[in-house]
Amino acid sequence: MKRAGFTKRILVLILLYVFVFFYKLFPVFWNNSSRVNKRVILHGDQIPKNLIDSYYRTNYGSCQHSVVKENNINCRRLIENTTISKLIRVSKSRKCELNKITKNCKLFRQINGYEDKVVTKLEEDFPLAFGIRLHKSAEPIEQILRIIYRPHNFYCIHVDNGSDIRVFNSLRSVARCFDNVVVLSQIRTVYSSIRLVEADLLCMKEAMKSTIQWKYFLNMVGQELPLKTNLEIVQICQILQGRNDIESEPANEVLMNRMKYEHNFTKYRLIKTGIPKKPFAPKSFFRKGSAYGTFSRGFVGFVLSSDIAKDLMEFLKNVWAPEETFFNTLNSVDGAPGGYNISVKHGTFDFISREEIWKWDPVVCNGLFYKDICIFNNRDLPWLVKQPEIIANKMEGSYDQVVIDCIEEYLYNKSLQADIFALNKTHYKQYPHTKDLYKTT
Ligand SMILES: *[C@@H]1O[C@H](CO)[C@@H](O)[C@H](O)[C@H]1NC(C)=O
Ligand SMILES: *[C@@H]1O[C@H](CO)[C@@H](O)[C@H](O)[C@H]1NC(C)=O
Ligand SMILES: *[C@@H]1O[C@H](CO)[C@@H](O)[C@H](O)[C@H]1NC(C)=O
Ligand SMILES: *[C@@H]1O[C@H](CO)[C@@H](O)[C@H](O)[C@H]1NC(C)=O
Ligand SMILES: *[C@@H]1O[C@H](CO)[C@@H](O)[C@H](O)[C@H]1NC(C)=O
Ligand SMILES: *[C@@H]1O[C@H](CO)[C@@H](O)[C@H](O)[C@H]1NC(C)=O
Repeated sequence: MKRAGFTKRILVLILLYVFVFFYKLFPVFWNNSSRVNKRVILHGDQIPKNLIDSYYRTNYGSCQHSVVKENNINCRRLIENTTISKLIRVSKSRKCELNKITKNCKLFRQINGYEDKVVTKLEEDFPLAFGIRLHKSAEPIEQILRIIYRPHNFYCIHVDNGSDIRVFNSLRSVARCFDNVVVLSQIRTVYSSIRLVEADLLCMKEAMKSTIQWKYFLNMVGQELPLKTNLEIVQICQILQGRNDIESEPANEVLMNRMKYEHNFTKYRLIKTGIPKKPFAPKSFFRKGSAYGTFSRGFVGFVLSSDIAKDLMEFLKNVWAPEETFFNTLNSVDGAPGGYNISVKHGTFDFISREEIWKWDPVVCNGLFYKDICIFNNRDLPWLVKQPEIIANKMEGSYDQVVIDCIEEYLYNKSLQADIFALNKTHYKQYPHTKDLYKTT
């Protein structure tokens, strides 16, 4: 009895082995014809169009698969229906192997949409440069890149030197697929320190080294997203006529106090010491505002090479939050290309570069506040797409990926229908820092 049972089990095992052996040897018998064999390395142009999605997903995860597609979310309705009140939440399942998919650059560029960008002559004649700073994961940056990417522009990504080396490696593998994308990781950024400015300057230097004759430089961080197409950004920059768009208001006591004492760097933080600093200039010299802006090429040259910029940089190296005064102050120095010393503030809707909502602003944030600034979600979409500003700060995929994917779709559609979505140029000629350029009398 016992023996017979044992033989049976052995038999079953042998059968199982034979089955697995044949399965391995002749996968073609078992493969359903619509599936793509994982082990075959195909090139972009060899994959039938209808198989691209499944091939991509099986092999690399879902880097380009938007959660709105996976969940059949209708972005258009979210954007157009202003009465929508429920936040759509989707479980996030975005795992993507950028390192792997970028081994085949052509496939990567094709699948992630880099090769079907619509570029007009106007844009081609007006290249832009972007500097993106980040410290977290690579995938959201790849998404930003594929949204703003145009083959004639210049892109520099600075990854925090303190972040996981895999982030840098992933993005470097992306950069290898382009000749106009540079990825750096030289600086360990520290919150509210000069290192943030240093990272921006590195990207500005790279942009200057490039043979691309870009006309404006836009700095941004990984938690931001453009609200305008490349064409629209170009049109706005043309209206600026060489002027910068930098937030600027007179220095207040808060700003001056940040510069009264030296600060020391630890590995992760900046610490105030009791050592007083020798004042650099009177209060009237300093301006304060956002760390981000739209900088003319001339201004970037001035920032990188003028004596005043170097001296100011040296002075700010050990103060708190110098990124909120460095570009802003230089913009109002006599002789600064594209500069001005009038007030330009997001609070009075004068700052073109950024859409942002602070806790004390009289504007509704449907998302949530983090460090007093609004993180947008998909209920903000109808409002966001109507705003005249170039870039929205902030977006966070781990909080809401829908708003990000919908803006990607929205901008893509808009780039295909530039004639329908005409930019309201009159609007941009009425800002405090542009209106003098369009005086009619
Ligand atoms: C974009 O265009 C596609 C195709 O016409 C359409 O189905 C989709 O709803 C549009 N999306 C938005 C956000 O307008
Ligand atoms: C807009 O959304 C609301 C709430 O979800 C819904 O009741 C209404 O029917 C929608 N309107 C349109 C035109 O789709
Ligand atoms: C990070 O910084 C260190 C020290 O400066 C440097 O040796 C290293 O190359 C940097 N890492 C990258 C990826 O650039
Ligand atoms: C800051 O650094 C200086 C020079 O390295 C050192 O003398 C001083 O004790 C430090 N101060 C604090 C508060 O860490
Ligand atoms: C800033 O304003 C002062 C007068 O308030 C003026 O003398 C100076 O030229 C201005 N600078 C620039 C760059 O416009
Ligand atoms: C364009 O902007 C101007 C100035 O803000 C405004 O008066 C006008 O109504 C806008 N036109 C359209 C079509 O929105």
